Amino acid sequence: MNLDQLKQLVGEAARDEVLKLPAGQVLGVGTGSTANCFIDALAAHKGHFSGVVSSSNATTERLLKHGFRVLDPNAVGVLPAYVDGADEIDPAGYMIKGGGGALTREKIIASMAKQFICICDASKQVPVLGGFSLPVEIIPISKGIVAQELAKLGGTVSLRMAKATHTDLGQNLGQPFVTDNGGWILDIAGLQIKNPPALESQINQMAGVITVGLFAKEKADILLVSNASGVSRISFQ
Ligand code: A5P
Repeated sequence: MNLDQLKQLVGEAARDEVLKLPAGQVLGVGTGSTANCFIDALAAHKGHFSGVVSSSNATTERLLKHGFRVLDPNAVGVLPAYVDGADEIDPAGYMIKGGGGALTREKIIASMAKQFICICDASKQVPVLGGFSLPVEIIPISKGIVAQELAKLGGTVSLRMAKATHTDLGQNLGQPFVTDNGGWILDIAGLQIKNPPALESQINQMAGVITVGLFAKEKADILLVSNASGVSRISFQ
C-alpha cells in the first residue's frame, strides 16, 4: 500500500468514527493531505452534521466544493470532535503540527472540541517529538527577537519561505510564507522534545509568538493510524 492509499484508508476510518456521533452537531475539520482524504470520504454523509468549522482557507475551499455548510467558529459552541492529521505524534498523544502552515486556526478549533481525533499513517508515530521541524507562527516584525530566543532552545531556526508548491495558494515564490492570519513561520530543526507541555508554555510566553505548533494542551484524545495491515484505534483518555 502506498502513502496515498494509507491516508485514504485512515480518512475512511475517521468518517466511520465521526458517524457514530449523534446527528445534527457541528464538526471541526483539520488541514492537510490526510484531512483532505477525510473530507472526501465524509462528503457523501455531510447531512449527518448540521455544519462544520474549518481550520484553514484551503480546507474551507474543499468543504464548500463538496457542499458542506461551513460555519463561523464564533457562531458555534462546543464541538463534539475535531479531526485532523499531524506531522508527528508521540506515545502520549502530543503532536507537532503546522507543516502546512495552518497551526493557529487548527489549535483554535481543536480547543473548541471535546475530543481531538488524530488521523495519520504509521510513519508519523515517533518515540520523541522533534525529528520534524517545530513550526512557530509569529508576528512578522518580531522575527529577529523571536528567532534569537528560539535559538536558545538548541535547535536551528529558519524562516519558512514560499516554495513553488505554495504559489497556487497565492504565495510569492522566494518571499516569506504568509499564513492565513498574515503571520510568518519560524521552523526549529533538531529538537528532542522530552517535555512537550513545558516547551509549549515556554514558547507561548515569547512576545511576538502567535502559536507554536506543539499540541500538548490540545493533544490527541484518539489516534486512528493506518499501516499495511489496516487501521488501529488508540485512545489516550
Ligand atoms: C497543517 O498545518 C498541518 O498541521 C497538518 O495537519 C499536518 O501537517 C499533517 O498534514 P498531512 O496530512 O498532509 O501530512
